[in-house]
Amino acid sequence: MRTENAVAPKTIYLKDYTPAPYLAKQVNLSFNLLPGKTIVTSEVRYVKNPVGVSSDLVLDGEEQTIVSVAKNGVPLSDYTVADGQMTIASPGDEFTLTIVSEINPEANTALEGLYQSQGTYCTQCEAEGFRRITYYQDRPDVLSVFTVRIEADAKAYPVMLSNGNLQEEGGLPDGRHYRVWHDPFPKPCYLFALVAGDLVRVADTFTTMTGRNVDLHIYVRAGDEGQCSHAMESLKKSMKWDEEVYGREYQLDLFNIVAVSDFNMGAMENTSLNVFNTALVLAHQETATDSDFMSVEGVIGHEYFHNWTGNRVTCRDWFQLSLKEGFTVFRDQEFSADLNSRAVQRIDDVNGLRRLQFPEDGSPLAHSVQPDQFIEISNFYTKTIYDKGAELIRMQHTLLGPQTFRKATDLYFDRFDGQAVTCDDFVQCMAEASGRDMTQFFRWYKQAGTPTLVASSHYDAAQQRYTLSFKQSQPETPGQTDKQPLHIPIAVGLLAADGREIVPTQVLEMTAREQSFTFDGIAAKPVPSILRGFSAPVKLETDLSDDDLRLLQVHDTDGFNKWEAGQTLALRTIQRVMADPQADISQFIADVGTLIAQGLSGQGDKALLARALSLPMIGVIGQYQPVIDPAAIDAARSSILTQIKRAHKDALAALYEANANPGEFTITPQAMGRRTLQAAVLEILTTTNGTGCAARAKAHYDAADNMTDRVTALSCLSDSTQPQRAEVFADFYTRFEKYPLVVDKWFSLQAIANREQIFDDLASLRAHPDFNIKNPNRVRSLYSAFAINNPVKFHDPSGKGYAFLRDAIIELNSINPQIAARLVTPLREWKRYTPALQAQMKAALQAVLDTPNLSGDVFEVVSKSLNG
Ligand code: TRP
Ligand code: ZN
Repeated sequence: MRTENAVAPKTIYLKDYTPAPYLAKQVNLSFNLLPGKTIVTSEVRYVKNPVGVSSDLVLDGEEQTIVSVAKNGVPLSDYTVADGQMTIASPGDEFTLTIVSEINPEANTALEGLYQSQGTYCTQCEAEGFRRITYYQDRPDVLSVFTVRIEADAKAYPVMLSNGNLQEEGGLPDGRHYRVWHDPFPKPCYLFALVAGDLVRVADTFTTMTGRNVDLHIYVRAGDEGQCSHAMESLKKSMKWDEEVYGREYQLDLFNIVAVSDFNMGAMENTSLNVFNTALVLAHQETATDSDFMSVEGVIGHEYFHNWTGNRVTCRDWFQLSLKEGFTVFRDQEFSADLNSRAVQRIDDVNGLRRLQFPEDGSPLAHSVQPDQFIEISNFYTKTIYDKGAELIRMQHTLLGPQTFRKATDLYFDRFDGQAVTCDDFVQCMAEASGRDMTQFFRWYKQAGTPTLVASSHYDAAQQRYTLSFKQSQPETPGQTDKQPLHIPIAVGLLAADGREIVPTQVLEMTAREQSFTFDGIAAKPVPSILRGFSAPVKLETDLSDDDLRLLQVHDTDGFNKWEAGQTLALRTIQRVMADPQADISQFIADVGTLIAQGLSGQGDKALLARALSLPMIGVIGQYQPVIDPAAIDAARSSILTQIKRAHKDALAALYEANANPGEFTITPQAMGRRTLQAAVLEILTTTNGTGCAARAKAHYDAADNMTDRVTALSCLSDSTQPQRAEVFADFYTRFEKYPLVVDKWFSLQAIANREQIFDDLASLRAHPDFNIKNPNRVRSLYSAFAINNPVKFHDPSGKGYAFLRDAIIELNSINPQIAARLVTPLREWKRYTPALQAQMKAALQAVLDTPNLSGDVFEVVSKSLNG
């Protein structure tokens, strides 16, 4: 519900940027945390900005009651408050403004600004949450030094934290106490943080490259301290990696991480006081899967890396969001690749991009990596800004090469440390350090939509010359019809017919709409390995034959393309079966047999084999269909899995046994590879959901000594109608009901079931006493798991799946607009589905749009989905 001082939806444009009228020299904040209300006193020294264009001071503020305003200590009444802004006309060149206001964190369900999570006070200010704490110029280009005093009941809130260093602490009358924190580095207000609660601390230290000691503290609720060691190790590895790979050292003597269970996103990089969703800190073999362990490592890295890419060098405005997010995702992907398996990391990252970013880029909400306009910035924390943004950085890394890229990032950090800059500034450093003209490359930042790259080849035996020809095209996207050709790095290698690599990887630079590249001295027609490592975020179409792909699948030296060749064969097979259910796919089935045999011989990387044995997911397959019909894709996919199982049952069972749990748990890449291979094999073995399948899955569960194996078993049982399903789910709940993050998995694993009773199941899960609409993790565990990971039932012809999601969006609109808007995601791509499904999806969107008191967040995504 829009409250009195909420703001009407209004479009903001990049072209309208002007510098802030006033600079903030010093910010003193004081918080008096009292039951039912918090009193915030903000005292800011303002100085007129020499490059500002207006002389009025305009401060943003929402969801608070103003108690008093004073200028230079004298009460001020000469100000206006309207539409979420306080305006003071021409206040002078330099003055101190003191504003006292009252807020109510206990009633804050939007989880923006100051709120409570299980009794712990915490803040989330990015992007525009600071204005819910006090009136301020809430924009990232206003940097200031913050001193923060916190006062609260000493018993209930023994831990009180803010950014920087502890300056002062002491007791007060009536059982209260206070602490003063000071952060000497100027920062934008979106990086401000405060935490007060009864938490326990896990401590360690890190010695930096110049020999300074940094205290590392992780704060969690009592009882969770045994689940912090993986996060702590990941933090130390992140600090070391940034020193080694980017030459970047941490500047303060303390680094805090606080885990809270109510959080809209994954985590937040507030200077020296990161706030994390518990799901991305806590990890123990009994309660966390391998993929949870990987996410914790990746996100701890991500938030730590923001210290340089985001905090010390920050964004001029929110159109530059990818400046910090795209670059930081690239950094965390490379960190994970260095620590684990580079090929596996790349496969998983590209799979995610194709499954989630490609659909966004083809939807009415398609936007460029540096957008030109938005209504609600929190809707722009998207796969495009993050993951396509990371691909843009990766392409620059590929074009420049690692050494020149490092020279360019050194230049970027040296030049812009302590400043708020743009994506243009970043690319300019790439250009200067390399001597390259990056003008054409910058189009990647401005043009939305996934380009298509069509490759064809010609071999001239007489000339011994091989020619690769490419055509690029860009789809039209909302507001963009006239697209220019992009600068595309295409990493290519050539293999001979016997599988030998005859031309190692080289990067072809495509700049025209159509372009050819020749290779001389090629003795016989080669097989090209194109777009190695997925060197550009495009949809590639080639004229390779199935036999060419089979050669690459066995012999390619590029781990990503080796996997990709198998996926392309699988896609072609699925398309054949979709066109004709009786199609002869014996060659494909035999090829899978060869992979299984390789696995049995113990050759090769198990994690890669697991991925080679997994058919593309429905969401990825859909990207290659002109009209998406999830049930038809699923039918073809299931038929292929059944044929694989029938043909190779004994070999699969042997491969399963050969990779059984050796009894000692570790989270090395090898151990994770073994578990994931066993899971991929069990998925095929249990695909028909009969009595034997259920028995196998239950046996897997009973033998499990870790969460990964338990979740594997549950997901193999999820679609089943056998009695073991209920038994195992009940046992799982009883064992783990005290662990909220595991209860989330219990919800998700039921929500993804492709079975008849699903809509009854969903209704009981929604009515379950453990369901809590105010907790984003729980909402995601039911609704996002269903809408994203259960494509067949979400797109049920009855429309019941859409109705289930629609009702949650409407309910959440008044509770937590950010989460409500995010839930709209799977409906945005409605135009890609069959006419019958389209009509139902559109009706669900329209019903949301017709809801009274729609938040700006939901209004923007729903109206753009319908009209974009
Ligand atoms: N900057 C955060 C990140 O690391 C994103 C984030 C955390 C966020 N919490 C948020 C964005 C709440 C919007 C709203 O990626
Ligand atoms: Zn980030």
